[in-house]
Amino acid sequence: MLRPRSPGDRRRRTALFTQIMTTDTLSQASDLALQRYRRMALITLAAVYFLILVGATVRASGAGMGCPDWPTCFGQWIPPTSEAQLPGNYQQVYADLGYADTRFNVVKTWTEYTNRLVGVSIGILVFVTVLLAWPLRGYDNTILKASAAAFLMVGFQGWLGARVVASNLQPGMITLHMLMALAIVATLLFALAQSRRGIMVAQPVTNIDKRFEKWLYIVLGLTVFQVAMGTQVREMTDLIRQTQGEDLRSSWIEYMPWFFYVHRSFSAVVLFANLWLAWLLVASLGWQHTLTRLTLAMLVVIGMAVLSGATLGHLGMPALVQPTHLLAASLLFGLQFLIWMSFRHCRDCSSAESVGSAARD
Ligand code: HEM
Repeated sequence: MLRPRSPGDRRRRTALFTQIMTTDTLSQASDLALQRYRRMALITLAAVYFLILVGATVRASGAGMGCPDWPTCFGQWIPPTSEAQLPGNYQQVYADLGYADTRFNVVKTWTEYTNRLVGVSIGILVFVTVLLAWPLRGYDNTILKASAAAFLMVGFQGWLGARVVASNLQPGMITLHMLMALAIVATLLFALAQSRRGIMVAQPVTNIDKRFEKWLYIVLGLTVFQVAMGTQVREMTDLIRQTQGEDLRSSWIEYMPWFFYVHRSFSAVVLFANLWLAWLLVASLGWQHTLTRLTLAMLVVIGMAVLSGATLGHLGMPALVQPTHLLAASLLFGLQFLIWMSFRHCRDCSSAESVGSAARD
């Protein structure tokens, strides 16, 4: 049995226990509101991931400048479907604005426009998420705060999207845009995990392997490093595309600098570190615990990242695989963040439980 080590420690744990007990009572009172919130947050998260996929498809298909202006597209709220609907001097107009190569292409324009429509839908979905978080403010105020923060971040992301277009798709701006998408994912996941506290309370981690926490942080660090390296490889792809052109796509890999090879080989480190983490969980908590299941899902996602990465590296960078690789990397980041949050909740609950049984003794 875990006993508080000092009076301060005892006070902290007792406060935690009281908080969780109060939380438990409140969760019964607002069960329906919590369920609604969780469902909406999940839908919003799925939509954000869909947007990441659509955004990456826009980039891979070279449709980023399909709409050279923002928020309108070729000066219209609903873009044209043929070049004949544009003024005769439109190329000159956009050249004067700094977009020398603007040439109307219906597929690219509508791909980019769909990307924007999905972006606007996300704004609406996050707004509804904030509305559904409002009744939960007495249960846990951080759910409302995080949802509101996600809403503001989506607004900022829209503005950043406009800057990306204005910068003529500067690689560094694309990276910033992608990191912002991950920050939105993290904020929504934080709110979702807070709303799932009551569920995690039922899954204590008293028997968890003592090395797990340390390894979790190591694995998180390794993933962040791998994702950061991936963004640099992607910036390099964009530069190579500019110099070599789309027609030489299958030989782009030959022009990759050394950090591409580090990125490629480092995925083995990421994979084995995660396998070890999963093993620690299976051995100490069994197969049924939520943390184990999340970690196994993470292994599947890593498999997807490695497989899509290997296809990019060895099969001539197929355009369709580029979005898959980014989606896998973003899912990996999200899952690890969720595992981290869930672990913290399970651990807090286990500590509080120990205080509870100490108090009963
Ligand atoms: C754990 C495994 C991996 C993770 C988490 C990961 C992560 C990433 C990320 C985040 C990007 C940036 C994607 C974007 O912004 O569109 C990227 C790009 C890239 N990665 Fe990986 N990667 C992994 C494994 C691999 C492997 C094994 C290879 C090759 C053998 C590879 C090759 C590439 C290439 C070629 C790009 C540039 C793709 C593009 O420009 O669209 N990756 N990676």
